[in-house]
Amino acid sequence: MAIQLVTTAAALRAESARLLTRRRGASQGLVPTMGALHEGHAQLARTAVAQNDVVVASIFVNPLQFGDAADLDRYPRTLEADLALLDAEGVDLAFAPSVDEVYPGGEPLVRITAGPMGEKWEGASRPGHFDGALTVVAKLLHYGTPGAGLPGGDATGAGLPAYRAYFGQKDAQQLALVRRMVEDLNFPVEIVAVPTVRSADGLALSSRNRFLSDGEREAALVLSRALRLIEERANAHEPLDLDSAQALVGSQPLVGLDYFEVVDPRTLEPLAENCRDTPFRGEGLALIAAKVGPVRLIDNAPLNS
Ligand code: PAF
Repeated sequence: MAIQLVTTAAALRAESARLLTRRRGASQGLVPTMGALHEGHAQLARTAVAQNDVVVASIFVNPLQFGDAADLDRYPRTLEADLALLDAEGVDLAFAPSVDEVYPGGEPLVRITAGPMGEKWEGASRPGHFDGALTVVAKLLHYGTPGAGLPGGDATGAGLPAYRAYFGQKDAQQLALVRRMVEDLNFPVEIVAVPTVRSADGLALSSRNRFLSDGEREAALVLSRALRLIEERANAHEPLDLDSAQALVGSQPLVGLDYFEVVDPRTLEPLAENCRDTPFRGEGLALIAAKVGPVRLIDNAPLNS
């Protein structure tokens, strides 16, 4: 295996500086993950490897973003398989710190607050989730910053390698919040969104799909079908007729719909116009969340007409 596993921030800094110097690297990419990697993560890694001289992937199951201790314990930990997947994609460094390394003084007293954008949609059923996710993303973005320990950088950052971080479109609310945090708090990193990877029948890949029975998996396909209906109407500049797409989801007895809305991709506020009976123009994001059997699934479709 060519990938190198590092478990401390100091080792990450040293190894990233060594690789950037050896390769005269002009860019570094960071792929933050919680492990249990699948083809969706492979796509993030592949994109990062294609765009950067050095690529770091982090694997850290972040306790701060779990509301429930049982959920945190149940989260799959598959380090060996994760390393093999990242290695096959050409990732240079896997950063898999312990909880003590990331939170040496216990849970941090000062955190990032996601604000109102983090309280709706997924945030409504997972209070505090996005505060915890943004707090660790802020820390991971700091850990993965290239150039610390490299000669040639000055205080303005001139001469330092470019820095990009990769997030999946699948977690659309997380992506919108990370973009907002980076913009609002001036993080010197470019956020790159990578399109959702789907299986051939349309189901968005997720580490939770492994908990679906065959029947539930079949039923879950109604989510991507309903999104596709909305997408087709948006592309044709038709009214989105959200009600009929919602009814399609409602017709599947194994699926309990939580929300299905078309929102502004930047603010995540519902689009008042456009989504029901006026022709769709401009930009939107269709968001859906549902419980399929015991498993909560989310999916989305960016709309651009
Ligand atoms: O999307 C995830 O896997 C996590 O929320 C992230 C971004 C790695 C932060 O823990």
